[in-house]
Amino acid sequence: MTIRKAVLPVAGLGTRFLPATKAQPKEMLPVVDKPLVQYAAEEVAASGLPMVIFVTGRGKNAIEDHFDVSFELEHQLAGRGKEALREQMRSIAGMLEMSYVRQKEALGLGHAILTARDLVGDEPFAVLLSDDIVDSEEPCIRQMINVYERYGSSVVAIQKVERSAISSYGIIRATPVADKLCPGRLYKVEDMVEKPAPEVAPSNLAIIGRYILTPGIFRELAATGRGAGGEIQLTDALKRLLAHESIYGYVFEGKRYDAGDKLGFLQATVELALKRDDLGKPFRKYLKSLKL
Ligand code: UTP
Repeated sequence: MTIRKAVLPVAGLGTRFLPATKAQPKEMLPVVDKPLVQYAAEEVAASGLPMVIFVTGRGKNAIEDHFDVSFELEHQLAGRGKEALREQMRSIAGMLEMSYVRQKEALGLGHAILTARDLVGDEPFAVLLSDDIVDSEEPCIRQMINVYERYGSSVVAIQKVERSAISSYGIIRATPVADKLCPGRLYKVEDMVEKPAPEVAPSNLAIIGRYILTPGIFRELAATGRGAGGEIQLTDALKRLLAHESIYGYVFEGKRYDAGDKLGFLQATVELALKRDDLGKPFRKYLKSLKL
């Protein structure tokens, strides 16, 4: 079955960015000049998926407005001869078919995904966390769909992390899979642990914010109680899914920035600005001028 729908959970509280997120969604924080959530939506569109389902919550209206047509803004831009900018603004609204569902309480990532159950239906789907920006030639979620199309099972994106970072992630225990199309990148998941201490972690393979999930995950999420932090954890539901279905871990090609964390956000800002045609040169010059 082909993947048509991507779920973007954007209902979290964003406490790590307070006070910036007191009155605006974390997912609207801009990296250079684009909000985090737009990077994720563009990755979905570039991967050839036609539909996105946002799981929103209280105080997240700015996200809906961002992806809507703004007639006033377009009218004003046209009046000032800024046609190219007007087109750019219009294309944000036309990028994908979009639906919204509300998570009434931020009960965790697992709960957010379960909230999208009726809109997803009985088909496999993608999940992207907009905190994670992946800069790659082939969009990360497209790479994962390619794996899904060969194996027909859920796929989690993984990254090898430093020992000191292990306790911030879901970590998998897995065996390598020999696959000619992605040598050294594919693993069959045997178990997973949410945020283990490095001494007891089964590996240094950490799950990041990109998933291809089979609809079986909804049954498992519905049966998963509150776990770490009183939240319904996706990792717990994935563990349950492992009892019935295979799950693969895929070491994606590209560079990931953890923009949900302050340092990661700054790194994304600097590196993505350096790559920009319009900013790269003067920004590099400025950085070099700093006596660090
Ligand atoms: P995070 O784990 O980064 O949580 O969520 P958060 O609440 O947004 O941020 P902090 O940790 O308090 O700073 C990862 C993604 O899952 C969404 C978030 O919006 C974010 O995009 N999420 C999280 C939900 O949609 N609902 C939830 O209940 C929790």
